[in-house]
Amino acid sequence: MPEVTVTCVETAIRAETVPFAGVDLRSAKVAVEPAAGSEKARVTITVGFPVADIATQLADFLSGVICSATGATAVNVEVAWQVRAHAVQGTLVPLPGVRNIIAIASGKGGVGKSTTAVNLALALTRQGAQVGVLDADIYGPSQPKMLGLDGQQPVSKDGKTFEPLEAHGVQVNSVGFLVDDQTPVIWRGPMVTQALNQLAFTTNWHDLDYLIVDLPPGTGDTQLTLTQSVPLTGAVIITTPQDIALLDARRGLKMFEKVNVRVLGVVENMSVHICTACGHEEALFGTGGGQRLSDENGVPLLGQLPLDARIQHETDSGVPTVVSDPDGSLAAKYLAIARATAVQIAEAPRDHKGVFPKIVVE
Ligand SMILES: Nc1ncnc2c1ncn2[C@@H]1O[C@H](COP(=O)(O)OP(=O)(O)OP(=O)(O)O)[C@@H](O)[C@H]1O
Ligand SMILES: [Mg+2]
Repeated sequence: MPEVTVTCVETAIRAETVPFAGVDLRSAKVAVEPAAGSEKARVTITVGFPVADIATQLADFLSGVICSATGATAVNVEVAWQVRAHAVQGTLVPLPGVRNIIAIASGKGGVGKSTTAVNLALALTRQGAQVGVLDADIYGPSQPKMLGLDGQQPVSKDGKTFEPLEAHGVQVNSVGFLVDDQTPVIWRGPMVTQALNQLAFTTNWHDLDYLIVDLPPGTGDTQLTLTQSVPLTGAVIITTPQDIALLDARRGLKMFEKVNVRVLGVVENMSVHICTACGHEEALFGTGGGQRLSDENGVPLLGQLPLDARIQHETDSGVPTVVSDPDGSLAAKYLAIARATAVQIAEAPRDHKGVFPKIVVE
């Protein structure tokens, strides 16, 4: 009977291109209980990013790969995942209850940071992760509206901390819950810092794998506070393809690099326009900008999203695309970008300052 060993399974799965968008098995951990008598060998493959949405297909696929590499007629493959806390900048330590904080940023306004942030949060949730959204746009919060939570307020049980609100399975807090949208927010630097720190540190985030922070445009007070006091695993830079947006996105990217926050990659939003009437695709804002930005800085292009009216309608009406059309082609793009982001995080150095990991076996 052919032997199924850890080494031959590792070699087999690493040599294979996995046909599931963005899945990467380079750092997968393999455990094997060899076959006894007529039983199948049991192979457990553990990855560092959530795969609840594809665990069964992935296990079937890998079972085929392992059988053909080892000559075994059948193996019993289980795919497990475990999101761990990864290293943060400087001397900061991860927040209790939050394994990884990801900033979604761009130097420029209106490029789709909030839209991408909320759809990525929902995509990671669909992949099985526990996710939160922190809307750090003190001057123009978007998440209450995008998550259908307008007019609601987080409660405080002890007068000191907030319970996050919840929408579509995601925990949420936003300054938008605390000031009404008629109040012009004319806060100055120290107030911005205080408000942001309060949202980040006094929200009772419950056991999050990822907290997605939706930043305002620019490289001002909020960005400064965030990079000085909030422990970030990394930043995702959103850009549109045209040169003007790229200039600002580049500035945003450099800001994170300067303060030693890992740039996980670039997302190019509004890359081609898809006509609702005829499906014709047109690169309204030029092509290749996201790729150029990622090449120049040696970071991955995590994905590209079209300029599509459905994204705008769905997200601005409180039921973002990943939830309103979960099996559509646009949701598939967000899921692939979420996977690529989670894979980048899984590959990053670990934090060893003591957050206990959660293990999920699918
Ligand atoms: N790929 C897309 N296709 C169509 N519409 C989009 C897309 N991405 C974002 N939008 C729309 O563009 C507008 C601006 O997007 P969004 O608010 O996410 O940008 P932002 O970068 O967060 O802006 P701000 O800098 O003001 O925070 C929104 O109305 C949103 O619905
Ligand atoms: Mg925004």
